[in-house]
Amino acid sequence: MSKTQKSIGIFDSGIGGLTVANAILKILPNESIVYFGDTAHLPYGDKSPEMIRKYSRSITEFLLQSDVKMIVIACNSASSAAFDYVRELAQVQQVEVINVIDPVVDYITNHHYHHVGVIGTRATIGSQIFPEKIHQKDVQLKVSALATPLLAPMIESGFVKGEISKAVIETYLADKSLNGIDALVLACTHYPLIKKEIEQYFIDNNQVVNIIATNEIVAQAVYDTLKRDNLISLGSKSKHQFFVSDYTDTFKETTQLFYHQEVSLQQIDIFKEE
Ligand code: DGL
Repeated sequence: MSKTQKSIGIFDSGIGGLTVANAILKILPNESIVYFGDTAHLPYGDKSPEMIRKYSRSITEFLLQSDVKMIVIACNSASSAAFDYVRELAQVQQVEVINVIDPVVDYITNHHYHHVGVIGTRATIGSQIFPEKIHQKDVQLKVSALATPLLAPMIESGFVKGEISKAVIETYLADKSLNGIDALVLACTHYPLIKKEIEQYFIDNNQVVNIIATNEIVAQAVYDTLKRDNLISLGSKSKHQFFVSDYTDTFKETTQLFYHQEVSLQQIDIFKEE
């Protein structure tokens, strides 16, 4: 098989990364994907960087064995803890790795914001990766990063609209550190599902804040990289595979929230050495 026809490997701690998969397939409809959601080890947001790297290694090896042409780390927690490590492993097979942080940092620093808020898991925010990478490109830009650990489990449990999610969202966004922001990065692949609710919070509070859901920005980076390398699949029949490390009916149901088509999830054990 020519490299062009190979699949794009995408992974996340669970099914949140399907928001990235959706965005990729929207602008690259002829691509095939191999998706791996590490539902057995979810959430990554509360794991140590060492543990996230260990899981990411096994997943990367699985995707490389699946002969993918590119790997997308569709998880902010794994992108902050394991990007360099995954890239090193993939380089051996000349497979390019895209994370969900660098394209967003490029996007932010190319727009003239003054004060950017970033919300994400404890792992992502604790790593300081957003302030560090943003300040490497723009020292002037004020960055306020806030851990919002309840949001991913809340969304994964199906609470995206209604009073419970509204109260949680409001409590986080009212944090003093976010006063005066002109942009807010949703630095977790689950958060595009509550983008509208977040926008509504700022409208209700008469604040003009650009809400940056990162899935579309990352999809554009995938497109640009494949185009640069002449690897865009042209007109062939695409075929998608979705793997999870632990299968439950709840995951199957929640998957429909994130991915708007019928998905057949296959359980696979790739962590045999544990
Ligand atoms: N998808 C993960 C991320 O983008 C959040 C869920 C988790 O904590 O595993 O950080």
